[in-house]
Amino acid sequence: MQKVTVQTSSEKYDVLIGGGLLEKSGQIISQYFGTPTLALVADDRVYELYGQALEKRLRQEGFKLCSFVFPHGEASKNLETFTNLCESLAQNQLTGSDMILALGGGVTGDLAGFAASAYLRGIGFIQMPTTLLAAVDSSVGGKTGVNIKAGKNLVGAFKQPALVLCDTNTLASLPPEVRADGLAEIIKYGMISDRELFDFMKKGPALESELENIIKRCVEIKAAVVQADEFDQGQRQILNFGHTLGHALEKISDYKISHGHAVAIGMVLVTRAAQSLGLTEENTLGNLTECLKKYSLPTQSPYTAQELAKPALRDKKRRGDTINLIVTPSIGQARGHKVKADELESFIERGLEK
Ligand SMILES: NC(=O)c1ccc[n+]([C@@H]2O[C@H](COP(=O)([O-])OP(=O)(O)OC[C@H]3O[C@@H](n4cnc5c(N)ncnc54)[C@H](O)[C@@H]3O)[C@@H](O)[C@H]2O)c1
Ligand SMILES: [Zn+2]
Repeated sequence: MQKVTVQTSSEKYDVLIGGGLLEKSGQIISQYFGTPTLALVADDRVYELYGQALEKRLRQEGFKLCSFVFPHGEASKNLETFTNLCESLAQNQLTGSDMILALGGGVTGDLAGFAASAYLRGIGFIQMPTTLLAAVDSSVGGKTGVNIKAGKNLVGAFKQPALVLCDTNTLASLPPEVRADGLAEIIKYGMISDRELFDFMKKGPALESELENIIKRCVEIKAAVVQADEFDQGQRQILNFGHTLGHALEKISDYKISHGHAVAIGMVLVTRAAQSLGLTEENTLGNLTECLKKYSLPTQSPYTAQELAKPALRDKKRRGDTINLIVTPSIGQARGHKVKADELESFIERGLEK
């Protein structure tokens, strides 16, 4: 088992990563927090795969439990599900000393975390990520929230978990495309912060035995960035590499292109443009595309620069008249590059394959 401790200005919490943590979760949670009543939150797929077994174990360990199960998928990450979840917490008389247990991917973690930030003005919550993306990214760092009609993640709160338990055994049942979303984020961490991790990923998919270490490394990188900039005022933006254009791709495709796949394309576009402007070392693009292809991740945009520029200009990372895009001067390093709003389209044009 691996452990990373995250220390933000307001909170300190452990991230435990290892095979079989689900079975041990009752003991672990009671060591940390005693036996609060736990509200298990899971989507229907994850509940069926792991939720029922987890409930049984937790009951055996003496925990009182209630469960909230919602239909899987991004479409559930909305205010209606959030309201239903809060109502369910109230009906089950959860108090300020009880806790929410978010078992699932990023959708579950974001939704449950937001409820934990708001119900009774805040109660504790534990993340149990079951997707690779949630393990390396969304379960750590404290960004929570839901989508509204106007856009993704537009309503939310910063709410750090009290503990993260990542049972790597649960990742075995992931469909390949969902797994690939997480792989894209791992490659992103390599690109922005860790050449060694990138080189390891570029060797190709024999990473099963190394998964625990890879997740640990990604969590360490994310923890370091979050510790330096908990509320996303500056340095945290490097985590956004590939994301401004990635979000645009998700939006235009009506979310048919999933997050990690969109980020893969976004990283390629921004790197090709940066390389053509001399902002990035010569061979960076070739290395990046070679690596992404090893995991069957896409590297080409089905959309034009004009189509991509529009939603990118509405990105919530926009400040005034400039957009801060993240570029990698070389693999393992990242910095912001400001592009004027009216020059974004031509920047993206440079990023498209001719
Ligand atoms: N808070 C953050 O910092 C942050 C960071 C990145 C992404 N996100 C958010 O995360 C969400 C995407 O997360 P996701 O990709 O995990 O999506 P998800 O939670 O929808 O999970 C994807 C699918 O995999 C299924 N699944 C989950 N675990 C499984 C398992 N072990 N075996 C088989 N199937 C399983 C789910 O039922 C779902 O159908 C987006 O809403 C995004 O905005 C948040
Ligand atoms: Zn992401």
